[in-house]
Amino acid sequence: MTALFSEFKLKEITLRNRVAIPPMCQYSAIDGFTSDWHLAHYAGMARGGAGLVIVEATAVSPEGRITPGCTGLWRDEQIEGMAEIAAAIRSAGSVPGIQIGHAGPKASANKPWEGDDHIANDAPGGWQTIAPSAVAFGGGLPKVPQAMTSDDILRVKTDFVATAKRALEAGFEWLELHFAHGYLAQSFFSRHANQRTDEYGGSAENRGRFLLETLQAVREVWPENLPLTARFGVIEFDGQDEETLAESIELVNKFKDAGLDMLNVSMGFSTINAKVPWGPAFMVPIAERVGKETGLPVATAWGLDDPQTIAKVVDDGQMDLVMVGRAHLANPHYLVQAAIELGLEKPASLLPEQYSYWLSRYAGPGKGSAQ
Ligand SMILES: Cc1cc2nc3c(=O)[nH]c(=O)nc-3n(C[C@H](O)[C@H](O)[C@H](O)COP(=O)(O)O)c2cc1C
Repeated sequence: MTALFSEFKLKEITLRNRVAIPPMCQYSAIDGFTSDWHLAHYAGMARGGAGLVIVEATAVSPEGRITPGCTGLWRDEQIEGMAEIAAAIRSAGSVPGIQIGHAGPKASANKPWEGDDHIANDAPGGWQTIAPSAVAFGGGLPKVPQAMTSDDILRVKTDFVATAKRALEAGFEWLELHFAHGYLAQSFFSRHANQRTDEYGGSAENRGRFLLETLQAVREVWPENLPLTARFGVIEFDGQDEETLAESIELVNKFKDAGLDMLNVSMGFSTINAKVPWGPAFMVPIAERVGKETGLPVATAWGLDDPQTIAKVVDDGQMDLVMVGRAHLANPHYLVQAAIELGLEKPASLLPEQYSYWLSRYAGPGKGSAQ
């Protein structure tokens, strides 16, 4: 039987299986506050049986939101709604995780279904973005960010720390720092976005400094017994991949020394000229290499939705966890379907008893044969 359904322990946290739901923005918050949508959505995700549910990219400050509809934890008043979500995830048997981040040059954009493009600074929902350098991402995100001063850098690091504390207070047990996807932290590391000439720009060591210092500061307030992880874009698919990977791995080793417990391996997305080789499980060999060269447990997402494949990448020791995103939006009980396909005994037992009792009692064609 596959190890996909075996427990995974990290620090003092045990996941019931190796499937995690990666952060997926719902763009349904108001002034950073969560809504009924979030509660129902995350409870539904957790009821599907995954070991870990990571709540969407949650901003450390208002200007750190990707869109005006993104969640935030920059105010104590925002803790209550998040606490309800964390409790709902936990009561369904999953571990509640949360991703915290700052969108940097990609902030102040319309929701994806409203264009996914920058909102003018003087329009509702528009604000001045910040980044390591005054370099626009381009395409639909043409706003030129303000280059951050050293005070700005200190402020954002402090915001990460304060947000981590609020996440803890809300009851989250797994923290993921958003160091990926062309947002603020990734853009510090990126040769495309970072043109600074101070100690935060230039060499790989300097470009990694903001990320490392943020991680170190958060580690001081995030309890030692709980997992502290990061999602980091280790590759840009911009033709300089070997060099970027080598630099990334060196930085991840420093993350490890600073107390990082696991890496969610992803892409940089910091240039519009990237040529991403989209396809099933295409990030797995890259994530596996990062795991081998750092000794850290690793996970990745991106096109990992075929049950045989996700079982294999765990059984072959390539991934410690698999992140299954959109397949869970399509079917929140995805894991039960995967379990049926993989021949797990009593696949319905992955679900809460309110469902599993009936599915196992009335098994049979057309009657919910999940058992
Ligand atoms: C609706 C949606 C929202 C997303 N929001 C986030 C996010 O908040 N943070 C993040 O790191 N990735 C985000 N992603 C990327 C997912 O975490 C995941 O990497 C991606 O969907 C690929 O995995 P999949 O092929 O299993 O869907 C989002 C993806 C989707 C579809």
